[in-house]
Amino acid sequence: MKKLVKMLSLMMAVMLFTGMLAACSGKTGGKAGKVDVGIVLPTKDEPRWVQDEQRFKDALKGSDYTTEILFSQGSSAKEKENVETLINKGIKVLIICPQDGDAAAAAVEAAKKEKITVISYDRLITHTDAVDYYVTFDSVAVGAAQGQYLIDHVKGKDMPLYLYAGAASDNNAFLFFQGAWSVLQPKIADGTFKVANSSAAEGLKEKQELSREELSKILGQVTTNWDANDAKNKAQTHLTAASAALKGDVAVLAPNDGTARSIADVFASDGDIKSYVVTGQDAEKASIQYVIDSKQSMTVFKDVRTLVKDAMGMAVTILDGKKPETTGTYDNGKIKVNAKQTNVIVVDKENVKKELIDSDYYKASDFKGL
Ligand code: BGC
Repeated sequence: MKKLVKMLSLMMAVMLFTGMLAACSGKTGGKAGKVDVGIVLPTKDEPRWVQDEQRFKDALKGSDYTTEILFSQGSSAKEKENVETLINKGIKVLIICPQDGDAAAAAVEAAKKEKITVISYDRLITHTDAVDYYVTFDSVAVGAAQGQYLIDHVKGKDMPLYLYAGAASDNNAFLFFQGAWSVLQPKIADGTFKVANSSAAEGLKEKQELSREELSKILGQVTTNWDANDAKNKAQTHLTAASAALKGDVAVLAPNDGTARSIADVFASDGDIKSYVVTGQDAEKASIQYVIDSKQSMTVFKDVRTLVKDAMGMAVTILDGKKPETTGTYDNGKIKVNAKQTNVIVVDKENVKKELIDSDYYKASDFKGL
């Protein structure tokens, strides 16, 4: 009997200890037991969001408030579950980057019911009034910078232009494409570029401002779904179908670094492509190496340290009972969300050292041939 009691109490102690460990995992700062700020990020499968996690952890060292970061692994169901977990831990502020802008509405509506303040992070949550604030980069400027880079590196007339876009479930994909289109369209209309892979874009080439439906039509043809494999398959299909007139020196609008690298690899391995200019965004380490090696032409550097600082600054202001400062609004299809926006920087071989190494974003030792 005594033995049994001893065994049972040992088992209980072990269970208690592992329970405590589990509760601590992923938590940073402050007193144990409660979570003040819940952070939900879309996926660990892309370096962009792993980087955000790290930047949050760096920013939270020594903070008085407790936070917990959860990943949704590309699933809106998992995302909703994550939000519910955080609600149960008593969060007061939710910082969330949605996997799918529309689908996340249900998750934040659940948070709103508990009087939690919701901050949409990087991607806007759409068609709901349950979003209080939005912290973001200037996504239209990202696309415009990509488009302008292609224009600045165009060779002659009739240069084939391959267009790619992000996932249609991400409002940013529309903003990026809209920005790129605003500068590329006049150059398509005047024959500087000819669209190589989208009949929808070709059909709309006289239109400077596209409606959401028109953008959807183009995205439907050229989306990568933010997936490197999808991007690779699409690029292969496009190059297989392309006539000789659509090869040679070409321009490629790739929406972000992950897709840019796989699209670039496909174009580099096609014997009929003489040269390609390809865009990107995020300044992912692997893409910085590609830029150094002249395999990717540029990237748009979005300093995640600033976004994290803005989001956490907002959260702390709210926890302190004050009203955060915003710089404008974004229409999410239902309401105008008060937003704080951050600028972006174009990076290519010329300024990579200055912008990314001298600014302490990355270490020089992370790269070869700088
Ligand atoms: C982000 C990009 C990212 C993309 C894919 C967008 O919403 O703004 O930085 O590359 O999603 O995850």
